[in-house]
Amino acid sequence: MSRGTRQSTLPSSRTERRTQIADGALPRRQSDDEVTIWWSNLSETQANFGLQANLLSDEDLLRAGRMSNSNVRDRWITGRATLRSILSVYLGIPERAISIAYEALGKPQVKNRGTFRFNLSHSADLAALAVTWKKRFGINILRIRDDININDFAPWTFAENDLNAWRRLPEDEQRLSFLRSWVRKEAYLKGQGFGLSHSMRDLQVVESSTDCCMRIVNTRSGAPDRRWRIHDLTSPEPGFVAAVAVDGKVSRLISRRWPDGSICAT
Ligand SMILES: CC(C)(COP(=O)(O)OP(=O)(O)OC[C@H]1O[C@@H](n2cnc3c(N)ncnc32)[C@H](O)[C@@H]1OP(=O)(O)O)[C@@H](O)C(=O)NCCC(=O)NCCS
Repeated sequence: MSRGTRQSTLPSSRTERRTQIADGALPRRQSDDEVTIWWSNLSETQANFGLQANLLSDEDLLRAGRMSNSNVRDRWITGRATLRSILSVYLGIPERAISIAYEALGKPQVKNRGTFRFNLSHSADLAALAVTWKKRFGINILRIRDDININDFAPWTFAENDLNAWRRLPEDEQRLSFLRSWVRKEAYLKGQGFGLSHSMRDLQVVESSTDCCMRIVNTRSGAPDRRWRIHDLTSPEPGFVAAVAVDGKVSRLISRRWPDGSICAT
C-alpha cells in the first residue's frame, strides 16, 4: 500500500483536526497514578481516511499492506492513525515520527519516552486507547455478541471453581458474566505484556476486601497478586464490556471521547 491512499479525500490540515479537541481536554501532564482512556468510534473517524493513512509510519503501512481483508485493513489504519494522533498530542511529536517498539510478546510502547505508556483494544467499531505517565497497565474491550459459543470457551477461560459457579448461573446471565471475566483477565494479561500467551484458567478474579476494584489470584500457586488492580469500565457505546488492569493504586480513571475530548462516564 502506498502512502497517500485515497489522498484526494483529504479533508483538512493537522491544525484544523487538532482544534476538534476541546481546550480543557488537551492533555496536561496527568499525575502518575491517573489513567486516561480515549474512546473512539472508528466508523465515524474513518470518514477522514485519506488523512489518516498519511499519519502512518512506513512500518505501519507495511503491516497494513499484509492484511488481505480490506475492511480489516481500513479499520486497522483508522485505529492506528487515531493512536498516533492521540500519542502526538501527548508527546508533541508528529504522528508519523512516533517510533513504536515491541516487547517480546508484542506489547507496544513508544521508544525513548521514559515511563510514558499506552495500550489499546478494539472490538467492532469501538477502540479504547489509554495512557499513563508511569503505571504499567492493560486495557481490553469486547462487543457483547451472541455468535460465540461461550460453552466452548468457558473451560479454558475460567478457573475450575469459577467454572462450576458460572455453570450454576441462570442461562441469561452466563454470557455477560463470561465476557466480563474475559475482558478483566485479558486486560491483566495485556498489562503484563503476556497477551493471550498465558492461560486464563490459572487466574481468578476476586473482589478486594480493601477497595472497590478487583484483584487477581493465581490458582496454581494460590498467591494473590497484591499489586495489580482490575477496574471495570463503562463503554460510552452500548453493547460492550471493558476493563483496565493497572499495576498499583489508581487515583483517577478519566474517560474521554476522541476527537472532541468530551468526558464520559468511567
Ligand atoms: C494482544 C492480544 C491479546 C490481542 O488480542 P485482541 O483481543 O484481538 O486485541 P485487542 O484489540 O484487545 O488488542 C490489540 C492491541 O493490543 C496491543 N498488544 C499486542 N500484543 C500485546 C501484548 N502482548 N500485551 C499487551 N498489549 C498487546 C497492540 O497495541 C494491539 O493493537 P494492534 O493490533 O493495533 O497493534 C493477542 O494478539 C495476543 O495474545 N498477542 C500475544 C502474542 C502471543 O500470544 N504470542 C505467542 C507467542 S508465545
